[in-house]
Amino acid sequence: MLDLHPAPADMARLVIEGLNRTPKQLPAWFLYDNEGSRLFDAICEQPEYGLTRTETALLKRHAPAIATALGEGVLVEFGAGSARKVSPLLEALAPPAYVALDISAEHLQQACRNLQQRHPTIPVLGICCDYSLLEQLPELPLLAGQRRLGFYPGSSLGNFDHDEAVTLLAQFARLLGSNGLLLIGIDQPRSVAALEAAYNDRAGHSAAFARNLLVRLNRELAGSFDPGSFRYEAHWQARDSRIAMALVSARDQQVSLAGTSWQFTAGEALITEYSHKYSPEAFTALAAAAGWHSLERWSADDGSFSLHLLQPATVGAAPGRLSI
Ligand code: AVJ
Repeated sequence: MLDLHPAPADMARLVIEGLNRTPKQLPAWFLYDNEGSRLFDAICEQPEYGLTRTETALLKRHAPAIATALGEGVLVEFGAGSARKVSPLLEALAPPAYVALDISAEHLQQACRNLQQRHPTIPVLGICCDYSLLEQLPELPLLAGQRRLGFYPGSSLGNFDHDEAVTLLAQFARLLGSNGLLLIGIDQPRSVAALEAAYNDRAGHSAAFARNLLVRLNRELAGSFDPGSFRYEAHWQARDSRIAMALVSARDQQVSLAGTSWQFTAGEALITEYSHKYSPEAFTALAAAAGWHSLERWSADDGSFSLHLLQPATVGAAPGRLSI
């Protein structure tokens, strides 16, 4: 595994920038330290959070058709996490290599070990990095001369707002090259009650996942947050077609971090992440703005989730520098 995790100084800069915003907001990838990744896996198993089960079933059911549509190439998964979804694709595709990118180093290492055992004939490589590194990854021989097939499951794109999402999809396009393809899982808007329950499960894993962010800031960036003085809330914001997840200050309080301090008023929200939802049409338009053309789509019967297969809209660009 290649560990290119951002240094504490870079993390501090991003946190300070986020705490200076109105409303205060932290980068969503901060949620994924080792404990956060464990809590996220627990969320995926909660009865209220159907997304993972729906996408896993779709992948299993359509793996042969998806593999045929993808064709030959190295499979590159973005935000692989525990990499629990990719096996049906690896079996159907038998790619010359599999590369998993994720921000959570230890978690990624374990995921790669497990996958390598399960798929002994496919070379597996993990790269721990954030997406700011996508276009500066080192030259490595594993991908040289290979087509690149991107896989971005879980509707993780939902963490980004519209402009950020377009930027990220355009970065993927450059990295994957003009002969590459991108398979991406997208969660769709549905009943507000069901969505809010999915992000605030009864067992409390969603709340623990958000609060763990404060524990991490205290530990890694010498923060002075009192996690117990923030309550967790998840609300649907119809105007932006997204769930906003926040830690709401229970009282007026001051918090310091990396030598700076901030005032929270009682009831003030610290946004821990957004989860944007897209109808197939809205997502197709978003992807088009980033230079992707929609090739095919596989949707869940209940219309809650779709896998979209995208192709670069323009040909001729040289592939980006992910050569492993
Ligand atoms: C990993 C961003 C797809 O938005 O559903 C789930 C994150 N946070 N419950 C999502 C999440 C709390 C998840 N994504």
